[in-house]
Amino acid sequence: MKLLITGGAGFIGSHVVRLFVTKYPEYQIYNLDKLTYAGNLANLSDIEHAPNYTFIKGDITDAKFIDDMFAELAFDGVIHLAAESHVDRSITDPMSFVMTNVVGTVNLLNAAKNTWAAGASGFDGKRFYHVSTDEVYGSLHNPDEFFTEETAYDPQSPYSASKAASDHFVRAYGNTYKLPVVLSNCSNNYGPNHFPEKLIPLMIHNIQTNKPLPVYGKGENVRDWLFVVDHARAIDAVFHNGRLGETYNIGGFNEWKNIDLVHLLCTIMDRKLGRPEGTSAQLITYVTDRAGHDLRYAIDAHKIMNELGWQPSLQFEQGLEKTVDWFLENQEWLDNVTSGNYQKYYESMYTNR
Ligand code: NAD
Ligand code: DAU
Repeated sequence: MKLLITGGAGFIGSHVVRLFVTKYPEYQIYNLDKLTYAGNLANLSDIEHAPNYTFIKGDITDAKFIDDMFAELAFDGVIHLAAESHVDRSITDPMSFVMTNVVGTVNLLNAAKNTWAAGASGFDGKRFYHVSTDEVYGSLHNPDEFFTEETAYDPQSPYSASKAASDHFVRAYGNTYKLPVVLSNCSNNYGPNHFPEKLIPLMIHNIQTNKPLPVYGKGENVRDWLFVVDHARAIDAVFHNGRLGETYNIGGFNEWKNIDLVHLLCTIMDRKLGRPEGTSAQLITYVTDRAGHDLRYAIDAHKIMNELGWQPSLQFEQGLEKTVDWFLENQEWLDNVTSGNYQKYYESMYTNR
């Protein structure tokens, strides 16, 4: 099996690459990543010399590069995670989301379709797995409602609109060309290597450095949090055993209001840093709400649990403790991603193929 994983230097992608490289030594794993501000190879330093692992620096918006790479390397499967992923950035710069998330995905679909169709065995044994988000379903307002695989798409931000468009293209290629596709839509991830522009790592960093904790609006918005390694395990299950043409929702049945989550983090951090309880919570600052801020996401994950036997392995409090410990023990990583040092360093080491 020659497997292409895109976006493998990012937060979730690095956990997926690590899982596949270590669990499947017989696979050849190719990690294709542009190394944007969000991706860095320090996330994979423990496996970078594994004999079944190859890194390729490149941009999925470059169709010729993608076509040439498929022609040369003849992948059997693709797990596509590369994306622009931060909602706030999509509000200030929507076009980069269109380019990477939509155009980049279609470039990969074309390359897979054309290369596989021209091969001796056609689409037999091939698989294109698109990793997506629960944000495509929009925002829930009724507390009894959950996103199921049948929920109609209703994206509300430029980010979720770009992910919804990419999901539609993947399904359209499955329907029109019979490309063997499978998709998943996951809720909010957290854990080691999370880029510190997202809520949990940003709060940990700001608590540690005594900076204000910016809570958008009233902090009433609800997210369903899943430990990143559990998402990687779910991706393993869907890639190997998910039915072609199907979509699997992935989530932790673990809903938190932002303000409650920030208070919990403050309590954990006060304990870890030896501060009197209540110290860090004084840093909480309510700021202007995110434009078009989705109120609540909540995933119904019964399909993947019943069909593929997947379930989350960690309770949230355990996962948060592990995450806080990782950030406290990896200060150098945090300093290098926030300063942009990693980006400059890896930029100079690798040139685009
Ligand atoms: P991330 O921003 O941490 O990583 C994205 C990676 O993609 C980076 O390594 C970046 O360098 C790479 N990349 C970006 N543009 C590229 C391009 N044009 N060509 C090649 N590589 C490029 O993102 P993440 O949080 O790890 O999310 C990974 C995937 O999972 C995304 O598709 C996202 O939509 C999806 N997802 C994320 C979450 C979450 O909570 N973070 C939840 C559900 C789904
Ligand atoms: O649901 C899955 C999605 O989760 C993924 O598809 C996205 O890639 C990922 O970034 C995440 O999107 P969110 O917008 O939910 O995550 P973020 O960490 O940016 O924000 C979480 C919540 O916290 C959200 O309600 C906004 C709020 N927030 C965020 C930041 C960065 C704040 O209140 N203050 C902040 O400073």
